[in-house]
Order: sequence, then structure tokens, then C-alpha cells
Amino acid sequence: MNYGDYPTHRPRRLRRGKRLRDAVADVRLHPDNFVYPLFVGQMRRTKPVSSMPGVSQLPVSDAVRLMRDLSKRGLRQFILFGVTPAKFKDDSGAWAASPDAPVNRVLSEVRSKGLDVLTYADLCFCEYTDHGHCGTLDPHDHEGVVDNDVTLEALGRAAVAQAQAGADVVAPSGMMDGQVGAIRSALDAAGFKQTAILAYSVKYASGFYGPFREAGEGGMKFGDRRGYQMDYRRSREWRVELAADLAQGADMVMVKPAATYLDVIHQVRQACDVPVAAYHVSGEYAMLHAAAQRGWVDLKSAALETTIAIKRAGADLILTYFAPRLIDWIDER
Ligand code: PBG
Repeated sequence: MNYGDYPTHRPRRLRRGKRLRDAVADVRLHPDNFVYPLFVGQMRRTKPVSSMPGVSQLPVSDAVRLMRDLSKRGLRQFILFGVTPAKFKDDSGAWAASPDAPVNRVLSEVRSKGLDVLTYADLCFCEYTDHGHCGTLDPHDHEGVVDNDVTLEALGRAAVAQAQAGADVVAPSGMMDGQVGAIRSALDAAGFKQTAILAYSVKYASGFYGPFREAGEGGMKFGDRRGYQMDYRRSREWRVELAADLAQGADMVMVKPAATYLDVIHQVRQACDVPVAAYHVSGEYAMLHAAAQRGWVDLKSAALETTIAIKRAGADLILTYFAPRLIDWIDER
């Protein structure tokens, strides 16, 4: 790279005026990049999540209406999380596989109404278990660690229920070993060969999931998730998880969280050729809002900058609670 003598080299020429800046910008956001997370439950009316301004728990009918309205504005991808009343929670989270579970009801309604949207079903048990862990506990393990292989069978059943209800994509997020393979076999055996799997392949035990646990009511009664989610002090372990999920048939892979893992997103993007998603998680969203509420950052510019950074790192798809605002903001910059 030789750009000649310094006096003739004037990078600022291309920064003069919006037209020129827009012409040379090579990282762009598009509504098709976004997947919007929704929390659906049996509550009678919409219930705002206090730690996530603009995000609410939604009754089934409100969720379907919101999806229809947003799809008309160009936002067409949604990932669904279930909010489960205590009486339906148990040790294994079996209700996730019920056609009456709110996620499955939303999926069926979207299908029967023929909405022009793409549905992703989050596939994990923490919103369905009474202890709040991501699968059935191993009774012999006093640290309260989840029994991997018992959970795999349950994941297969829940995946089939979600596919049956109409999910286009199932998204296992529990970090069980072998979960992608188990889900793929269960889907294939039930005739759902076309249902895709977005694997939460590279998911760290993160301090940034706090507000999600209010939104999804999936907090743990004891312990934490470090026995199954990844340790962020290991810089190369993502290769192990990525290789395993691709070998088991993951159609797309995810890195989570996003903004504190841009290096990992970048490396995953280079290491594989399937679509890469990144999840800008609840705590990352809440932090920007908290600072903006104090007038310390401007919400729109901080959210756009963060989201562009995630895309620039290499994410094709971005799961973000900012999605409905971003579809307006990307044209206003
Ligand atoms: C379920 C799950 C979590 C999130 C997505 N799926 C919580 C967790 O792992 O504790 C977090 C998403 C967010 O914080 O926005 N396992």
C-alpha cells in the first residue's frame, strides 16, 4: 500500500458532505439484517419490562398484531421467547413442547393468518423450568449442573413441537453438548427436514443477560450458568463449539453477546461460510438506554454506531431490541 507523498493525500476530501460520505460508506444496515426478539405469555395485557425501555411482555394476540404491523414497515424477522406462569413450570420444562405454550400459539397464528414474516423459535428450557436452569438438573451433581443427555431428548421434543406449530427456524440456546445433532435428528424423524437450525454456537456466560431474566422470567433459583455456557477468558474455545455445531448440521450460527465480542464475531465470520448472527443482548440494550436517559449519550447515534460495529465485525444477522427503531434511524443518519 503506497498512497504517495503526504501533501497530496487528503482523506478528508471524502468526508465532505453527506452525499459523498454516503457514497463511500461500505457497511450498511438493512431491515433484513434484523431479528426482533419478542416475549410472549398468557398475561391479560401488555406488560412493560422496566429494565428494557420499549420492550414488553405480550399476550399472544398482541404479539401477532405487532408482527403484522412491523412487517408492513419492513421488519420481517422475529425470535420468540416464552413467559411461563409458575403453575406450568417443572423440573424439565416440559411445557415448552405443549401446543398451548404461548410461543407455539403465536407460531400457529402467524401461520394460519399467513403473515409474511420469518419466525425463529428460541429453544431452551430456562423460561420453563421451576429452578430456572436451561435443562433438567442432574440429581447426583450438587453444583446443580444440568444433565446434558436427558436434556437433549427434551430438546428434540420441544423442537418438533415448534416446527409443528410453524417455526421456520429453531434456535437452540441452552449450550448442551450435542444439541444441534439431537434436534436435527428429531426434526428429520418427524418429517421436518426443511426446518432450519440457528445454533447459539458461541454463547458466553455473560453478565449482560440480566434484564432478559426480568423479561423472560427465567432467572435461576440458585447457582449460575457457568457449568454450561462458555468462559469469556478462553479466547479460542469458539473454534471447538463452532466445529461441533457445523458438524452436527447447524444451518446458521450465532455469537452472543455481540458488542463485547466483536473480535469473536470477526473470527467466526472468517472461519466458516454459513450465515453468522450476533445477539446484541438485553444488558447491552439497557446500558445504552440508561446512559441516554441521563443525557450522557445520544440514544440514536450510540445505537446506530454499536449496530454498525456488529455488522462491520462480520455479522449477517443481528438480533436486537433496537430493531423497530433502527428501521427508521438507518435512513436518517
Ligand atoms: C436462554 C437465553 C438467554 C438469553 C437468550 N436466550 C438467557 C440466558 O442464557 O441466561 C439472553 C438474551 C438477552 O440477554 O437479551 N438461555
